[in-house]
Amino acid sequence: MNHTEDFSLRMEQLVRECEAALDKYLPDPDSMPAGEAPAATAARAMRYSVMAGGKRLRPLLIARISDLYGGRRALAEPFMAALEMIHSYSLVHDDLPAMDDDEYRRGRKTTHIVFGEGMAVLAGDGLLNFAYETALTAFDAARTPAETAAVVRALRILSGNAGIYGMVGGQCADLEAENRGQEITGETLEYIHSHKTACMIRSAFQIGAVLAGAPESDIERLGNIAVRIGIAFQIQDDVLDVTGDSEELGKPTGSDEQEGKSTYVSLYGIEKAVEKVRLLTDEALADYESLTVRDDFLRALLEQLVSRRK
Ligand code: FPP
Ligand code: MG
Repeated sequence: MNHTEDFSLRMEQLVRECEAALDKYLPDPDSMPAGEAPAATAARAMRYSVMAGGKRLRPLLIARISDLYGGRRALAEPFMAALEMIHSYSLVHDDLPAMDDDEYRRGRKTTHIVFGEGMAVLAGDGLLNFAYETALTAFDAARTPAETAAVVRALRILSGNAGIYGMVGGQCADLEAENRGQEITGETLEYIHSHKTACMIRSAFQIGAVLAGAPESDIERLGNIAVRIGIAFQIQDDVLDVTGDSEELGKPTGSDEQEGKSTYVSLYGIEKAVEKVRLLTDEALADYESLTVRDDFLRALLEQLVSRRK
């Protein structure tokens, strides 16, 4: 078997594991707990948005990094599901008419188009809350005081990176920049990228490492790698909005320009954007070499994010 096939097979396997975890924890609208049947529509909208087939990048990073440091999947699994639930809620709310007003995501109609705006708001709220309900179940899997302490720390990482000093802060700056309708500074753009996108990637890297009891120096280094990768990931997202294929992406292209959104591409041009993605990835890969453990799969995954087409 060649290297690429090996990578794709492992990737598919990890995606399957992430989806199995999501399926296991998400409420089932057809079998709600006794007396909870009236909430079934929100549960259906939650499943609709999560089980739409994203790349599962964040949970698979938790899984792989936890494995790499010899962590137990029983601890990692609730966090894998939780982080993807938070990511999905952010997409549902980001697509609402009050924000980006998008009709397609992950190759199908967005949640508010199918369920209505009110129900999409609730599905997002439900997912955010259920993420913590799910992550808290990791305490049941903890076997030692050290594992319990690791779960507490992972919960802090999960909530902090998703919150006001993380993703929500980044989205706040993004929304205000768009409303002002003028070009933003490079500094503001970096704040938006590092908060809106990179924080959730950092969350994945560090949760996997913390739950597995990785050395402190590696946890810190993984954080730095993740921030670079996360910013590169967002710039690539903006590049694909210009150069990507809408079928492959599962959403229309050209929306940033249409909405007059300031992106790395609109600020510096496509060539500089592609260059920046490469530079950030190279810096992250160089840092990666100084970790106490390494693996070819993770290196290939980081490398692949630069050339991704979706
Ligand atoms: C695509 O991820 C998403 C991003 C690059 C991040 C964008 C950030 C937001 C929409 C933040 C919104 C925040 C709030 C609070 C509403 P992906 O390419 O991994 O998507 P996939 O999971 O569909 O593959
Ligand atoms: Mg958007």
